[in-house]
Amino acid sequence: MGQPTHALKQPKDRDWWRSAVIYQVYVRSFADGDGDGTGDLAGVRSRLPHLAELGVDALWFTPWYLSPMKDGGYDVADYRAVDPAFGTLAEAEKLIAEAGELGIRTIVDIVPNHVSDQHPWFRAALAAGPGSPERALFHFRPGRGPDGELPPNDWPSQFVGSTEPVWTRLPDGDWYLHLFTPQQPDLNWAHPAVRQEHEDILRFWFERGVAGVRIDSAALLAKDPQLPDFVQGRDPSPFVDRDELHDIYRSWRAVSDEYDGVFVGEVWLPDAERFARYLRPDELHTAFNFAFMTCPWDADGLRTSIDETLAEHAPVGAPATWVLCNHDVTRTVTRYGRTDTGFDFATKAFGTPTDLALGTRRARAAALLSLALPGAVYVYQGEELGLPEADIPVDRIQDPMHFRSNGTDPGRDGCRVPLPWAAAAPYAGFGSREEPWLPLPEDWASYAVDRQAEDPGSMLSLYRMAITIRPVFGVGPLTWLPAPDGVLAFARAEGAVLCVVNLAETPASLPPHTQLILASGPLASDGRLPKDTAVWLRA
Ligand code: GLC
Repeated sequence: MGQPTHALKQPKDRDWWRSAVIYQVYVRSFADGDGDGTGDLAGVRSRLPHLAELGVDALWFTPWYLSPMKDGGYDVADYRAVDPAFGTLAEAEKLIAEAGELGIRTIVDIVPNHVSDQHPWFRAALAAGPGSPERALFHFRPGRGPDGELPPNDWPSQFVGSTEPVWTRLPDGDWYLHLFTPQQPDLNWAHPAVRQEHEDILRFWFERGVAGVRIDSAALLAKDPQLPDFVQGRDPSPFVDRDELHDIYRSWRAVSDEYDGVFVGEVWLPDAERFARYLRPDELHTAFNFAFMTCPWDADGLRTSIDETLAEHAPVGAPATWVLCNHDVTRTVTRYGRTDTGFDFATKAFGTPTDLALGTRRARAAALLSLALPGAVYVYQGEELGLPEADIPVDRIQDPMHFRSNGTDPGRDGCRVPLPWAAAAPYAGFGSREEPWLPLPEDWASYAVDRQAEDPGSMLSLYRMAITIRPVFGVGPLTWLPAPDGVLAFARAEGAVLCVVNLAETPASLPPHTQLILASGPLASDGRLPKDTAVWLRA
């Protein structure tokens, strides 16, 4: 342990993304290099050794572009510039190169569904007035009702729980569509200039050495040109998962293939067959597995989710991805310590009780489970530290999801709090000289990287060991093994390596094995596997 393992990895391996461990960096909260209270690229560069030691293959950066930050950077004013709060384009190039020297690839986050209302296109559209070609790049419409005082349709907000409309009226009478906040106007993807611009943006970043692109809100771009009212269950939906999208992603794939670049789509779709269509060989390489991410801590549910995932990916030849959390959802240890261990935007509420010791034990087991499955694994910053969801004082909340729900949804800031790096330093070593943009809870020094690095029993030590050892599973399929109720047991590497997870109340006997490779917690004195514990075994 302790040595970067990447010297052994093959930087030219074209299939790296099929089995990679990809670490999500929420730049604003990763590390503050200039001390101003906001994380930045200088902070990420200074902490690359942490990421190398963790052993991850790639970094996915949430948007670092010029942005008024009305939705944490998902409101982009210039896709070719880095926001000054984060650094400069030259610094991004350095970061990509320095990570590359450590064997770590870079994935950027492209937001194609909407732009910031400060983007030059939208400003020009506002200035040009109704009926102008500038407005044709967006969805501008007259309103309904005698004076056009009613919105053009009744579509629901894509911020689940939002009580706000998705249309905003301008003083000149036109309304414009925004599935998220009014500061994020939706682009008109039926317009050739919109398509051309995004292919150019992809090239811009591939030319700068990025290995992949995460596609934000990937299933929302195409809209029914008539913009009809929304009817629950009507197929096709006027704005979700429309067939036109596949043509868009085929042309994106042609661009990425020139650079060996890969895509990961943010595709939230309940229908497995519709989901898999995005992963056909000439479309996206991968998509996030939100079914697994939102699944409760329950053996049958997880096994079904794993089986369905593998079955839906197999026909299109795409690898699965395994995700436990991200910058939009409740942190894993908090969620797994609750009565309802699943995740649903619609039921998020202030003050949901949690048992963090229980949640942490389960999160450790879940880490070994997800890292043992065939496919790529995403780790969201702070997950490797076992950070819980933070309670943000109401007057410090920044997330528009909170405000657009009329204050009932706690928002997503609780999983976006600055990382603790050094227990004894101000602001737990995040790097700020002044109060960071979100407050760190008082007891977070105990989660600091420096403290966990010294503790072989810490979450960080578990993640480091697991990611280092993970290649023993190989890239082949999994085979389920017979196991008692509530126990997940499977073999990989042609039966040579096993993963067993006990979610049942009673301790479980381990299958025959020659070596205990790694355990998420102590075994019982009789060698059995306790509740909420996982092990990796050599058969
Ligand atoms: C995606 C992002 C989320 C953002 C939304 C609008 O869901 O993950 O953070 O608010 O898109 O861009």
